[in-house]
Amino acid sequence: MAEPARRHLISLADLADTDLRLIVRRGVEYAQCRPTGERPLRDLVAGILFRKTSTRTRTSFSAGALRLGAQLVTYGPGDLQENTGETIEDTAAVLSGMLDVLVVRTAGDEAELRAYAVNRRMAVINAMCADEHPTQALADLTTLAQRFGKVEGLRVLYVGEGNNTASALTLALSRYSGTALYLRTPPGYGVAQRFLDRAQLNAKHTGALVEERHDMAFLPPVDVVYTTRWQTTGTVKHTENWREVFAPFQVGAAVMAGTGAEVFLHDLPAHRGEEVTAEVLDGTASLAFRQAENKYHSARAVLEWCAVPETRGDPVRHV
Ligand code: CP
Repeated sequence: MAEPARRHLISLADLADTDLRLIVRRGVEYAQCRPTGERPLRDLVAGILFRKTSTRTRTSFSAGALRLGAQLVTYGPGDLQENTGETIEDTAAVLSGMLDVLVVRTAGDEAELRAYAVNRRMAVINAMCADEHPTQALADLTTLAQRFGKVEGLRVLYVGEGNNTASALTLALSRYSGTALYLRTPPGYGVAQRFLDRAQLNAKHTGALVEERHDMAFLPPVDVVYTTRWQTTGTVKHTENWREVFAPFQVGAAVMAGTGAEVFLHDLPAHRGEEVTAEVLDGTASLAFRQAENKYHSARAVLEWCAVPETRGDPVRHV
């Protein structure tokens, strides 16, 4: 019997335009429908390896895999023999003979995740690494598509650290025509240049705008304001006075009113009173908790795309 040819999702840059749109559309369909009882991952086993804390991503992929019919094997940060010196390559060679999907969160870089992706029997999904948080961006696009009916042409102001959420958002939005992403990142904490360069390449095809500044002096009119927690999971700040540097980048009522944004997004977890005021996070414009739920809907779309490549992306059946 032919071996399965599963698909990895390590970076959004790996996704073809059609696949990106398919996953987002599928996520919206899952968000709109009650469960169909169809279980495309039945008979499959998913490994859930989280070396760092997580509430949303771990739960969304675990619940998503279970609901799609898979069985789970879960690993915490201290469980694998990697902790006693076994290489990732050896670990991957072993796991890929037993698992169909491996969902990984690590504080390491993209190269570490690619080391797990040794063959196409076991799909590897990046559930966040130091460089990029691609499944967060897919949930964000799902939320935008659900709220506005499209992603094309949307204007987004991102305020905060140029972390893995920001890099994924930069890669994602620039793939849609006519979008504008205004990044306002604290000095010394911008989006890594390679993501900005990649976004500019995307923009040549889509006409998207990606602009980064390190102050809050000029805030353009936008549809959406997005922020993220100042303390990114698994990272430490390289300057002692970072709180003073970040302080002007808080999203409060003045930022929302000044930009005319209809929607506020936050990848969560949040610290009310730091990156965002409680008034904004819990206000009527905030979709932060719908966005969190969409991580689950989007995770099912990702699992299906990675683990069951023969899925055609037909609309989810409404019941
Ligand atoms: N947004 C996000 O990735 O949340 P968790 O860290 O809780 O998974």
